[in-house]
Parts: sequence; C-alpha cells; structure tokens
Amino acid sequence: MGARCGVWLLLTALLIPVCVTAQVPVRIVIHGDQGETTINRHIYGHFSEHLGRMIYDGVWVRNEEGEWQLRDDVIEALRQLQIPNLRWPGGCFADYYFWRDGIGPRDQRPSMVNTVWGGVTEDNSFGTHEFMELVQRIGTEPIVVGNVGSGTVRDMADWWEYLNHPGGSSLADLRAANGHPDPYDVRFFGVGNENWGCGGNMTASEYAREYRRYQTFLRPMGDVRPFRIASGPNAAMFEWTETLMGDAGRFIDGLDLHYYTYTGTWQNKGRATEFNEAEWFEAMQRALRIDEIIRGHSEIMDRFDPRKRVWLIVGEWGMWHDVEPGTNPGFLYQQNALRDAVVAGLHLNVFNNHADRVRMANLAQTVNVLQSVILTQGDQMILTPTYHVFHMYKVHMDATLLPLELDAGLYSHGDEAIPAITASASRNQQGTVHITLTNLDPTRPRTVQSQLRGINARSVSGRILTAETMTAHNTFEQPNNVAPTDFGGARLSGSDLIVELPPKSVVVLELR
Ligand code: AHR
Repeated sequence: MGARCGVWLLLTALLIPVCVTAQVPVRIVIHGDQGETTINRHIYGHFSEHLGRMIYDGVWVRNEEGEWQLRDDVIEALRQLQIPNLRWPGGCFADYYFWRDGIGPRDQRPSMVNTVWGGVTEDNSFGTHEFMELVQRIGTEPIVVGNVGSGTVRDMADWWEYLNHPGGSSLADLRAANGHPDPYDVRFFGVGNENWGCGGNMTASEYAREYRRYQTFLRPMGDVRPFRIASGPNAAMFEWTETLMGDAGRFIDGLDLHYYTYTGTWQNKGRATEFNEAEWFEAMQRALRIDEIIRGHSEIMDRFDPRKRVWLIVGEWGMWHDVEPGTNPGFLYQQNALRDAVVAGLHLNVFNNHADRVRMANLAQTVNVLQSVILTQGDQMILTPTYHVFHMYKVHMDATLLPLELDAGLYSHGDEAIPAITASASRNQQGTVHITLTNLDPTRPRTVQSQLRGINARSVSGRILTAETMTAHNTFEQPNNVAPTDFGGARLSGSDLIVELPPKSVVVLELR
C-alpha cells in the first residue's frame, strides 16, 4: 500500500495535482466453476464480555418488578442476523472470572469488583446458566473461554465437566440442582485469552507449556469432543504463532488471533463520529492490514499444519475509537458510523477469501461495547450500520467461496494510495451467487467490470448501505439514518456484470 500521486494537469491556468491512480479501472474475474472451499458460518460470529454495558443493560436487565431477565428486543435482532456463535465471558475478563461465583441462587452469589473493566461491582447475576439460556434463545452456539491467567487447571476442568457431563458426576448433579439436568454440550472452549497480555503476561513458550497442561483435562464428555481454542497472537506477533504451533500445535484446534483497527495513537484514537477524510483513509489503510496479517500467520501455520486442520480464528476484530464523551473510559462505549460499516464489509470480504484457513471470527463486541451491532439506552435499542453489513453478508454463511481475481483500482489520499475496493463471492446450495463489494473511497464512485466465468446469470438484484456523509450514524432519535436500500446500479451484459459502485458504500448482489 503506498503508491504515490504524481501527474500534474494544467487546468484553468493552475497546476493541479492529479493522481495517476485515479485512472486505474476496477476489474473482477469471478471463477464460478472453481469453488472448493466452504465459507464457514462461524466467520460471522460475535463476542460478549463482562465489560461496560455489554451484559448488564445490553442483554441482561431488571424488569419492572426488579427481577433480572434477558432482553427480548436484542435477542430478536440477533436472531435476525442468524449469528452462528457467541463468545463469553471475555476477553480479559475471562482470565479473572471464577465460574462458580456465577451459578446457584442469584441472591447467594458473591459479588466481585470488575478490576479489568471500569472497577464496577459485578454481582454475578449473569453466569453460566444465564449465558446458556441466552445462546439457546438466540439460536446460536456458545464459545466459552476459561481462566488460565488466575485460575487453576482444576477450575477449568470442573467448568468443562459442569457444562458437559451427561449425569452421574457430582458436577453434573450440581448443574441439575441448579435447574439444568441436561448437559449443555458446549464444544468450543477457549484456553485463556490474550495470555501474552491481560491473561498473564506470558511469553509464547510459557503459554505453550500452560496450554498443553490445561487442554489435557478438557476430555471428551458424553457426545462432546472439545474444540480447543488456544490464545493466539495480537496482530503481526508472528513469533507467538511460530512458538505455539511448534510446541503445542498438535493439541490445538483453533488459534485465536486478535486485530483491532484504530486511527491516531492508542492514547488518542479519535471519535467514532467526528473525523475527516485523512482519518477515514487511515482507518481503511489499517483495516486492510488484516489481509497481510492473516497471510503471515497462515504461512507459519501451513508449515506445521499443511492439511489446514487448525482453524485460524479472528476472535476479536473491529474498530476501536475513543469512548463517547461523558461515559466511563473503562466501558469502551462508542458510536458506530458508516466508516465502521465499510471497515466491517472489508474485513468480512478478507475473511471469506481466506476461508481455507480462517474458519471463525468474532466481531468485538455485540452490544454497547466497541464496534457493536446494537446500542441500547434504557428500553430503547438501535441497530448500527455494522449490524446492517452483517445482515447483508449473511448470505455467504456456509456457501462455497468462488475464487476471484481483483484489479481493485486505487483510492488515493495525499501522497498515499490503497486499493479502492474489496470483494468476495460465493455460491449457496441453491446455486445462487452472491457478490459483496465495498468502495473504500468516500468521494469517488467506481465502475466495476466483472467477468462471470462459469456463472449462468439471468438477473441481478442488490442492496446497498451508504449515506451522504462519512460520519453518518444512527441515533436513538433517528435510528434509520444509515440503513440498507435496494440497489439498481448493477446490470448484466452477456457474461459480464457491470456495477456502478457509489462512494463509501457496501453492496451485496444476488445473481440468479
Ligand atoms: O474487547 C476488549 C478487549 O480487547 C478484550 O477484553 C481483550 O481481549 C482485548 O484486548
């Protein structure tokens, strides 16, 4: 990324800089006859931590009688997204959490201070049974993350047994006494989180040693074989992947990479809804790094695991902004603008295109924290622009990835340039082809010339997410400022598909 502008035009007697890059056309060849890889539905997963107002307010609220209950509106919105999984209880909170504090009669559960996030009192009213009821009502699959940093092997093994033993063990009996005789059959289990940092500040070899020991005691139970997820690297921490795959690879089923996109510096990231084009460009440029980061980790994993048994999981991703003014800095509450939506579409296209290795991902986080799909305020709820992207892209879940060749054109800003668009394509079991496109350029449309090989399409229809401004977002007063509409900018011409892609937009096309 870094092509420079450098052509000068004489226009109305002024020397005006013009980027050569502006002329680069966008071309895609889609190989409809070469699909081999399934886009795992788990790429479209989500994450819910005991952080800020994610659990309390977000999914777990008191009713008028003062009793705790799950939020029906949020559950229904997540059902509509058909989210394939939900990761819990952290994040950094996972390596601080003791599962036994969150079971049994609620009025007898001990309180703790959430020293990780905001220093607030955690009353443990939302624990294992409440989480399992939440996932069951959403119709999704749980991912439970155990405590390596401050817990024992025994604590983790006991939680696994409490969740999954079919009956006849004291922990299964305890689960039954707490209202759930049937095992929960949880298969996805994280062995710690970010253990290079908040999960214990371990070196890669220290964690590899701990991982081998902890995972040993996640034994098959009833019908469930554990899918063991190792705490993976942050961004381009390639030595972590190298060491872990070398020392513990044969015990790992999924490796949990985290990558967040932010602008500016970590101390001063900028606001979610107040930014200029330079900050828009920077966000796109940094978000695009996910592609090279995945490639780097995949190359290492390929050496240890050429048959691609181990999933690369992007277990936390999304935009991380400064918190909204006046909110607890430890709650990570941020708004969500069109920029976040384009960044989401970009990531999902990259994940799809790496579907042979990337088999799971979790946006951080679901409600009221970081790049949420839902925001709540009292009993009100709004859907963010990012929610709409997930709704548009859900057609890719479990579909066959169609390889594509992309000449993405260039989006130039100042003296730098990045690819102007991202794209991915798939064919579902009914034979319908879907193409998702993002135009990263906030000012210029792109004409996308696509060649459809091995695709016999008679009609094309689509949906688009865009807005007048880069900073457009939904508020509790105006919840539909940014919402998808029908898209009429695509037409078929023989085996070609021509798409007029508006600036700063996310588009899904359906070919029949
Ligand atoms: O999502 C917020 C935090 O970001 C998580 O707790 C942690 O895993 C990551 O650093």
